[in-house]
Amino acid sequence: MKDGNNKIKNKKLKMPKPRDRNIEKAKKEIDTLKEEIRRADRRYYILNDPEISDKEYDELLAKLKKIEERNPELITEDSPTQRVAQGLSSGFASIKHREKMLSLDNTYTVDELKEWENKIKRMLEKDVKINYFVEPKIDGVSCALRYEKGNLTLCVTRGDGDTGEDVTANIKTIRSIPLSLDQGSRQEIEVRGEVYMSKKDFESINQQRIKENETVFANPRNAASGSLKLLDSSLVAKRKLRCLIHSFGWAKGYDFKTHKEFLETIASWGLPTDINSRYCKNMDEVIEFCLKWEGLRDSLDYEVDGMVVKVNDFGLQKELGTTLKSPRWAVAYKFPAHQATTKIARIDFGVGRTGIITPVALLEPVECGGVTISRATLHNFDEIKRLDVREKDTVLIERAGDVIPKIIKVIKSKRKGNEIKVKIPKECPVCKGIVTKEKEDEVYLYCINPECPAQLKRSLLHFCQRTAMDIEGMGESIVDELVDRSMVKSIGDIYALTKEDLLKLPLFKEKKAFNLISAIESSKDRPLSRFIYGLGIKHVGEKAAMILSARYKDIDAFFRLKVEDLELIPEIGPVMAASIVRTFSLSKIKALIRKLQSSGLNLKDKFTTKVKSPISGKVFVFTGEMKSLSRNQAREKVISLGGDWSSSVSKNIDFIVAGENPGSKFKKAKELNLNIISEKDFLKLIS
Ligand code: IVH
Repeated sequence: MKDGNNKIKNKKLKMPKPRDRNIEKAKKEIDTLKEEIRRADRRYYILNDPEISDKEYDELLAKLKKIEERNPELITEDSPTQRVAQGLSSGFASIKHREKMLSLDNTYTVDELKEWENKIKRMLEKDVKINYFVEPKIDGVSCALRYEKGNLTLCVTRGDGDTGEDVTANIKTIRSIPLSLDQGSRQEIEVRGEVYMSKKDFESINQQRIKENETVFANPRNAASGSLKLLDSSLVAKRKLRCLIHSFGWAKGYDFKTHKEFLETIASWGLPTDINSRYCKNMDEVIEFCLKWEGLRDSLDYEVDGMVVKVNDFGLQKELGTTLKSPRWAVAYKFPAHQATTKIARIDFGVGRTGIITPVALLEPVECGGVTISRATLHNFDEIKRLDVREKDTVLIERAGDVIPKIIKVIKSKRKGNEIKVKIPKECPVCKGIVTKEKEDEVYLYCINPECPAQLKRSLLHFCQRTAMDIEGMGESIVDELVDRSMVKSIGDIYALTKEDLLKLPLFKEKKAFNLISAIESSKDRPLSRFIYGLGIKHVGEKAAMILSARYKDIDAFFRLKVEDLELIPEIGPVMAASIVRTFSLSKIKALIRKLQSSGLNLKDKFTTKVKSPISGKVFVFTGEMKSLSRNQAREKVISLGGDWSSSVSKNIDFIVAGENPGSKFKKAKELNLNIISEKDFLKLIS
């Protein structure tokens, strides 16, 4: 107290010392940056309407980090720089919930909803008017978040309802969750919500995983729960999880009268709540609202499996109470799933580029949610065991949104005795080579024969695809022929092919053979980034390949790379870095690259990266067709000049380059009043 008074006195008497002045200035800067970052988080994740680009966001964060590094005494727990904890966690502690996390009873029809209302009215034994709050039932992972004195202190998954896992470090990486709340929230409160992945992020993560030859997630819920359980929170941060708060847990020092008041209050503190929810003054409105979303469910950017109907008044909620399993004051109205039954004709095995063997069920075609389904993935051999699925079984399949159909269960009562158990392959279904697991407890099997034709075919297709070496004409049937006839035994062999070789194949006539040889020849000049991407290094996508090539410029530099060097590049994490170094340490990769160099591939980047170019730091979107260069060439150029590109239009884009017949991106750019330039302007900018 005394010290405090002295400080005030001192302030009046003399000017602050330079160090104090600096601290004051730093504190001000930190506060402004924190506020800007918080605002950006909110616009991105809650309002779905970002105002700044990812790059600008990263710049704000980097600036904040820098000031904090110089003034560590000013780092607070709620600083956005503290979202990602350093290092790996060794596991998740079990935490008992103070108040059990219940589940919900289900209703499936309007009549059942009405019955539920009649039941609770009878229980209340008085003629009360009940009003409701109705929310989408998000298909995610349920979590309890605790705030003490306004700061996020704990987050625990639902677990079995009694005990869950402490995932605080991972939850803190979710940008829509505030680390501290706005004023008026200084007591202790536990709120509950759903951690989920948007359909869009789910799709793009799976696309990325396919490109990088990793197994895909079956649905957004699995992707969210898998991500939340990662031990490295810096990886969780990349998964773009989101969260919406839907329930009150418990609190000290707050007295909410209704669910609506609770939601409005926490939203005013900065917590994310679902804007697609509604207060309904009676059951008729509840039904109308539920049916509305039943028709519109696919338009939501997250997966839902129904609506949750809650009695709005907390007093009535208390009167109704709970059963052991679920509250009586809330009920789920479940939407019919996109499900169908069909028969498995056969279970087949695919072999991916890295040798991973994936079981696939080939189905008798069936209509499901407006789409004809004839295949369903079985993911891995544990899944086959878990489902006890056999060839000729009748199965229930489900298609959630745009997601790959999956088998929910086997209808065992339909078994006739002629079903065939799946044998886990002891050898590769294609090359008959040895199969093995990478680790003892892994559920995936791999073919480890580096010359396996299935792997080779996939690698060739990846290498030749448009976004890699762009060898037009090298499609699936030609690759099959070339590999099956042993004319191509490694990627390096395609550059030794002659027109005469091709003419030996029934698929080719003079012109087609000439065209393919010309396409192979012109691919020798592709930028280094295309080649790096084409190599199919695990975890290295198109953008990473561009960044690496712009930085190292020469393939020979890749053989000297160290994980520590790579990790210094902001876009490259430890997993990708390790994968790159591992790949270039393989003698077969070295041999392949030498062979390609002697075939005349340049493998040096022709672009020289200017440290400061007129477009450095600027983000471009390309729409429509350009005359003088392809979209990929334009993107490569932008990266090589220190700029960036995106495939979607938002307010953060600096330039929209509109070629001929621009599409919907052009329209959106106009609506957003963005800077639209022509191909000519673009060429001027990059010249
Ligand atoms: S209220 C006492 N509201 O559904 C139950 N739950 O099947 C409190 N869920 O475990 C839950 N969206 O994970 C509630 N708007 C919503 C929800 C929601 C999804 C999940 C929640 C719960 C499960 C119950």
